[in-house]
Amino acid sequence: MSYSVQNFGTMLLDHVRRDAYLEVIRRLAPGCRVLDLGAGTGFFSIAALNAGADHVVAVDVNSAVNQLTRVLKTTPYEARCEVLNADIREIELEPFDLIIADLRGPTPFYGDGLEVMSYARQNLLTEKGKLIPEEDQLMACVVSLPNWYRDVSEPWSLPGADWSSYRDSVLSTPTSLSTVDKSTMFSKPVCWHRIDYSDAGHIEKRKFGSQNTITISQSGLVHGVLCWFETVLTEDIGYRTEPSNHKPTYGRLLLPFLTPVAVSAGQECDLTVQCYRLKKNWTWDWGIHGDALMARNSSVGVGFL
Ligand SMILES: C[S@@+](CC[C@H](N)C(=O)[O-])C[C@H]1O[C@@H](n2cnc3c(N)ncnc32)[C@H](O)[C@@H]1O
Repeated sequence: MSYSVQNFGTMLLDHVRRDAYLEVIRRLAPGCRVLDLGAGTGFFSIAALNAGADHVVAVDVNSAVNQLTRVLKTTPYEARCEVLNADIREIELEPFDLIIADLRGPTPFYGDGLEVMSYARQNLLTEKGKLIPEEDQLMACVVSLPNWYRDVSEPWSLPGADWSSYRDSVLSTPTSLSTVDKSTMFSKPVCWHRIDYSDAGHIEKRKFGSQNTITISQSGLVHGVLCWFETVLTEDIGYRTEPSNHKPTYGRLLLPFLTPVAVSAGQECDLTVQCYRLKKNWTWDWGIHGDALMARNSSVGVGFL
């Protein structure tokens, strides 16, 4: 996905994400040679220079980064910052003490972000260099979203034909939701995968996922599995995109069920979430089992996130 300058502006307004990255930069950038990987507008590059970085290289495959050259002229840092409009894997660079990256979408399974992180870890760090983020925990719970379900299903019950094939296609497509209230959560969150960015072999894998037992917390109908992440950028600095009043930059990922599923408070179920790379796309498989199968769905053929 190619972001517009407006998209980059919206990302910067997410103060939870921004403040966490800025805190890491303030703590780790002084005296370092820093790579702003996927720099976008170069906001983190300027922050690193403000914090006392020796030298910063801002790289983005998106040509918006070229405008940073003009912005640098308004700062005292022009001589200490290189701006490169390129794919990081196609240029030669000396290693860095610190690499700052946020290549995620609603989850880290987004485009070739993980491959790029693996490349950076293996090729662009000094021996003691740090890659930010350090870890992402992938979280999930079942959610009740009757209004969302009604809105996406309604068009496909109009008269004239059986449109349910279209409805099923919509309901098999992972969707990013920006606002999700805590009250929609019908089970406690479970961690279904942990990404350790210090392990290049692990992040290069193409298949991730697990099955975990969840306990249903309220009786009613659930409409899908909601996924989000909790990141450790470094040490005690991180942030999470769990359901709350906060609207995270990339939203949270909803994996819908084809039909609403009735659940009862206290009921135990197995929640499965799996995600794998099929050619250029991430494909998802998800479902819940109680004594019998309650819901199972997959984005094969329609997934694009
Ligand atoms: C989510 S944006 C983050 C922008 C900015 N760092 C921020 O946090 O506001 C991720 C950026 O990474 C860039 N990107 C992704 N893969 C890349 C690659 N292989 N080489 C260079 N840039 C890449 C994308 O073009 C996008 O602009």
